[in-house]
Amino acid sequence: MEDKTNHSTKLEQLYARIYNQLQDLLGKSPHLLCKMATICALLHHKLNHFFWTGFYILINGQLCIGPYQGSLACQVLEKAKGVCWAGIKAKKTIIVPDVHQFPGHIACDSRSNSEIVIPLFDFQRNIWGVLDVDSRQFNAFSEIDQLWLEKIVQLLTPTPEELKFLSVSS
Ligand code: SME
Repeated sequence: MEDKTNHSTKLEQLYARIYNQLQDLLGKSPHLLCKMATICALLHHKLNHFFWTGFYILINGQLCIGPYQGSLACQVLEKAKGVCWAGIKAKKTIIVPDVHQFPGHIACDSRSNSEIVIPLFDFQRNIWGVLDVDSRQFNAFSEIDQLWLEKIVQLLTPTPEELKFLSVSS
C-alpha cells in the first residue's frame, strides 16, 4: 500500500515537472506541429511505462497518424473501430487496462497490452484528434495519467486558423 502511494506521489511529481517544462517549451513553439512533436518526445522519453506515444488527427473524416514516438504505427485507423475511434465518439478519455479484452482494438504493435486515449479539442470545443499512449504493461494507466495528460493536451487547444494547415475536419 505504502509502495503504491509512493509510486503515485513520484509519478505526480514527474508529471508536474514535465508540465512545467512543456509550458516553457510550447510557449516558444512557432507552430502547432512543433508543439505536438515536442509533447510526444518529452512524454515518451520521461515516462517509463510509455511504449508508444503519439497523435492521431481527424483529416477529412479519417484518423491519420500525426507526430509520434515508438515503433512503426498504422497510418490510418479503420473507421469506427478500436480505442482511438471510441475516444473520438465518446469525446472522453478512455483507459483500457487490457487491450486484448477491448472489442475491435487495433494492434499496431502486438507488444502493447494497455492503452490510454485522450481527446483533443479546439477553441470551440470541437474534437480534432486524440493523444494515444500504449504500454507493454497491463493496467499501466491510472487517473494520474488521465489528469495530467488532459492538462497537457490543453496546452495545444488550437484556433481554427492553426488547424487549417492540417485540413482538419472536426
Ligand atoms: N490501438 C489503437 C490504434 C493505434 S496504436 O495503438 C498506435 C486503437 O485501437 O485505436
